[in-house]
Amino acid sequence: MSAFAMQAKTLVVYYSYTNNVHSIVAELTKQIDADVVRIQPAEKGLDYEANNYAIGSAQIAAIRNNPTDPNSYPAIDPVDVNLDEYDCVIIGAPLWWSNMASPLQTYLFQNGGKMAGKKIGLIVSSASSGISGVESDAKRLIPNGDFFTPSLWIRSAQTRNAASLIQQWLKDIDYASVAGISGAKAESGVVNVYDLMGNLVYSGTQELIDVTASGTYLVKTNAVTKKVRI
Ligand SMILES: Cc1cc2nc3c(=O)[nH]c(=O)nc-3n(C[C@H](O)[C@H](O)[C@H](O)COP(=O)(O)O)c2cc1C
Repeated sequence: MSAFAMQAKTLVVYYSYTNNVHSIVAELTKQIDADVVRIQPAEKGLDYEANNYAIGSAQIAAIRNNPTDPNSYPAIDPVDVNLDEYDCVIIGAPLWWSNMASPLQTYLFQNGGKMAGKKIGLIVSSASSGISGVESDAKRLIPNGDFFTPSLWIRSAQTRNAASLIQQWLKDIDYASVAGISGAKAESGVVNVYDLMGNLVYSGTQELIDVTASGTYLVKTNAVTKKVRI
């Protein structure tokens, strides 16, 4: 017998060069259930900070100059994730020259279209610069995302306080009400669970439902249908 709580599924996608965003994501995943993907540039060993950030700034400039050209974006390692499975994507981004770090832009350039209609959260780490350019990048790359507001800005020097900043942010965006579908359940009163053959395997009002076999199920209320893997 497997059980699942009726929760939306969240993916955290991030890039981190000097591990500030990595630490932030480690705190975030102590507070929420999420799958996590770390983007890695295909070209290893680049020193993005050398010579006054020369490589990083050249990559950002290439994207700024020609944002619709796939060749403007640095190659990244393949990412094995099926975005269909997720209702919510939280993006963890370092700020480079007032923009989103280029390897993360590559991932979103290639996949942002598949995030249409999903809830999108943005967490940005910068030394001091404001994050509006990174927000613009996210909106350009995920044109039909349903963005949480506000984004969360954590300055590098505040990385050690990430736990409390994230906790407050999750409250500010009311993440709990989005992550669960209990709101929709309350409206309809009844939740129906179907297997992929269309058989009704559960109908009722429980928050936690037991099914006999692991697999993929469709969870329906009058407001929401979700595909759930257990
Ligand atoms: C290429 C490059 C450019 C950067 N440009 C800026 C900048 O314009 N303004 C700023 O406040 N911080 C800038 N930073 C600093 C990073 O935003 C900051 O150190 C951040 O915490 C890095 O996150 P990470 O450790 O996850 O890579 C830059 C860093 C790099 C590597």
